[in-house]
Amino acid sequence: MFNVKNDFFLNSVGDLISATSVNNEHTILIVDDEINNLQLLKRTFRGKYNILTASNGLEGLETLKNNINDVSLIVSDHKMPIMEGTKFLEEANKIAPDVIKILLTGFSDVEIITDAVNKCNLFQYVLKPFNPEELQEAIRNGLNKFDLASSKSLILKDLKELFYKTIKSITSALDAKDPYTHGHSMRVTLYSIILAKELNAPNNQLESIETAGLLHDIGKIAIPESILCKPGKLTDDEFNVMKTHPINSERLIASIERLHAVSPGVKHHHERWDGKGYPDHLAGEDIPYSARIIAIADTYDAMTSTRSYRKALDHEVAIAEIEKCAGAQFDPVLAKKFVEIQDIIKAAKDNPEEYYLKYSTLYKEIS
Ligand SMILES: [Fe+2]
Repeated sequence: MFNVKNDFFLNSVGDLISATSVNNEHTILIVDDEINNLQLLKRTFRGKYNILTASNGLEGLETLKNNINDVSLIVSDHKMPIMEGTKFLEEANKIAPDVIKILLTGFSDVEIITDAVNKCNLFQYVLKPFNPEELQEAIRNGLNKFDLASSKSLILKDLKELFYKTIKSITSALDAKDPYTHGHSMRVTLYSIILAKELNAPNNQLESIETAGLLHDIGKIAIPESILCKPGKLTDDEFNVMKTHPINSERLIASIERLHAVSPGVKHHHERWDGKGYPDHLAGEDIPYSARIIAIADTYDAMTSTRSYRKALDHEVAIAEIEKCAGAQFDPVLAKKFVEIQDIIKAAKDNPEEYYLKYSTLYKEIS
């Protein structure tokens, strides 16, 4: 319950708040069981803030859910029937962790609420009877914090979007060099992230594998088109030039700090489990995990895509080949899993755009 004595007092609080508010586009949810207090506060703040009110915790949660994208700050009384303020704010925090929460409480309740502070993610409590300036400052500071966090997350989202779109553009530019490999990088990435997800890889690893997948062949930009797009078999010399592309890929991304974590997956995607791959002849688990995943996805896509020198192989033929090469070319555990989830892989092959959006970690972060 607000310790509100009269309209004059309320107008003073309202004036103080509006005079120092960050802007008038914030929505504040006030929860108090004293209906008269709520109505008076609503009148006072009208035109200064968007005010939502609720007379108990349950109603407050419902109002919050219905206005989840609008509410910046909650002011709640503590002593209320049905649900105490701390419990209400604890539940509110599960729905809206970023919304600022202020609790009004009597001096005798301070110890009781101390335990609840963390659960509530409480920004501040204000003792009753409260000093108007203290409440005003709490709201002002709370809204400042809310605005700062919002702009930070918007900037972060913008940066992630820029990162994602830049990588996709670079990848598309590479795929455009050779019509026969059009969409190759995206599909290899898609099969890689499906396999990694089915292996329960954590989110940061999924993000890293996705980025490495998109960039794994970027070094082919430096390969002459006469070799890259040659319709027939490559000579030994031409193949040696072609084999430089994983190192070229790694060099191209070396200057970008944000991409350091994906370098191993890019550099080693042509290593083989038996040590007969390139560039470093790594074997077994010395080959980075992401590179072992990309190697399987890369080979599957190469087999199931039409090339200048042969038609695409059927899905079943490609899967049989992966199974056959498990333990020689590929990590046997990963290859076995790839074969197990072949129905998902086939569905993704037939509808890559849809499946990419479904499985992409990078895309989810910006959508
Ligand atoms: Fe490659």
